[in-house]
Amino acid sequence: MNNYDFQAEAREARVRANTPSSLAAYERSQKNLAGGVSTALRRSAKPYPMFYGSGDGAWITDVDGNRFIDYTLAWGPLILGHAPAAVNEAVAAQLLKGHTFGAQHALEYEAAELLCKAIPCADKVAFANSGTEIVQVALRLARAVTGRALYLKFEGHYHGWDDSVLVSYKPAADGCGSMSPIPVGMGQRPWSGAVVARWNDRASVAAAFAAHPGGISAIICEPMLCNSGCLPPLEGFLEFLRETATAEGALLIFDEVITGFRLALGGGQAYYGVMPDLATFAKACGAGLPLSVLAGRDDYMSWIADGRVVHAGTLNGNPLALAAAVASLQCLTPELYERLDRLGRALRAGLEGALREKGVPVVTTGEGAVFQLHFQTETPREYRDTLAADKGLYGEFLMALLDSGVLALPDGRWYLSAAHGEDVVEETLRRVEAL
Ligand SMILES: Cc1ncc(COP(=O)(O)O)c(C=O)c1O
Repeated sequence: MNNYDFQAEAREARVRANTPSSLAAYERSQKNLAGGVSTALRRSAKPYPMFYGSGDGAWITDVDGNRFIDYTLAWGPLILGHAPAAVNEAVAAQLLKGHTFGAQHALEYEAAELLCKAIPCADKVAFANSGTEIVQVALRLARAVTGRALYLKFEGHYHGWDDSVLVSYKPAADGCGSMSPIPVGMGQRPWSGAVVARWNDRASVAAAFAAHPGGISAIICEPMLCNSGCLPPLEGFLEFLRETATAEGALLIFDEVITGFRLALGGGQAYYGVMPDLATFAKACGAGLPLSVLAGRDDYMSWIADGRVVHAGTLNGNPLALAAAVASLQCLTPELYERLDRLGRALRAGLEGALREKGVPVVTTGEGAVFQLHFQTETPREYRDTLAADKGLYGEFLMALLDSGVLALPDGRWYLSAAHGEDVVEETLRRVEAL
């Protein structure tokens, strides 16, 4: 175990001294807002959840005026960075025309046309507001089409916070490997319908189907496991899932809420060249506005089209979110993804080099514009391998980063955007080397 000293205590004291307005805002917020944050994960931020006033490209500014290079990018949506001009203009123009109609408008078919062009499996799309909602539509559709109640998910994969899917997401070490779903929090319905397998492990998938013959409606997965370590599929694994689903009469659903518009314009399915039956998108497709998308083959989407499967929502197809999506999609060119890939590689290599130089054991996994730093020596392949990471040391590194003006997520994930130029990456590496 290494003993590099990031001087976290001294740095935390300095961060606290430089962020009094964030602390005051957090204390005020806790009086009336449950937990003082709007989603549970944000509470884990150290030394306390920071409050921000503005974002601009690759940079974010807190309420004390401190500027940070931002690798959190709102947990993924900001593929073009903060407040990109094209999205600002489109949303501002739409704001003046009305916020929502609860009825049809031209941006719906304009966005749908662009999405069907970009996403390989999309003959048709349907809109909602969050990733959690759209995953529910996909699973409902799979149950309807197959007449089966169960679905297969992988340990460590996250598909939103609904009771049906919030199971076996980062289970403790002693729960790993169980095919019985493990709820994450209290109050969840005891029956989720999930059967759990291990990522990149063909035998566990085969065992799940053998244990429930004719019972599994769908296999759902993040095509790259972004939520538990940015773990890509092993060679041939997605193809194996495709073949298994077809052979078993189940649907293959890619949850592309993170990989969509991030690995490639067409998401993980385009990047890895494997075609799912259905795919769900959120985060980057709205470029920061609340939008989610179900994409799929005509023969499945027709069940939504004719109303046999219910898909509803007051704010579905919201003009502000669709204005953002249409503007953003036009900026997402193949050249951008090549650049993001190059930058991601340079940043990963630079971070690995700088940390190893200090004696910190580190490996990185991921692709292009989303990758993960693991403070461990072995490259993880599935969720349970990530448990070997030295999370305490990573926390100290994060505090040192924060003190030097670089913001990254607590779980080790790093996001890049179109606004992160080479100069920003070089500046980041200079700061990391100087820690
Ligand atoms: C792969 C994946 N699916 C679904 C969701 C849920 O999306 P939302 O937070 O928009 O409900 C997330 C959120 O992080 C996600 O990463």
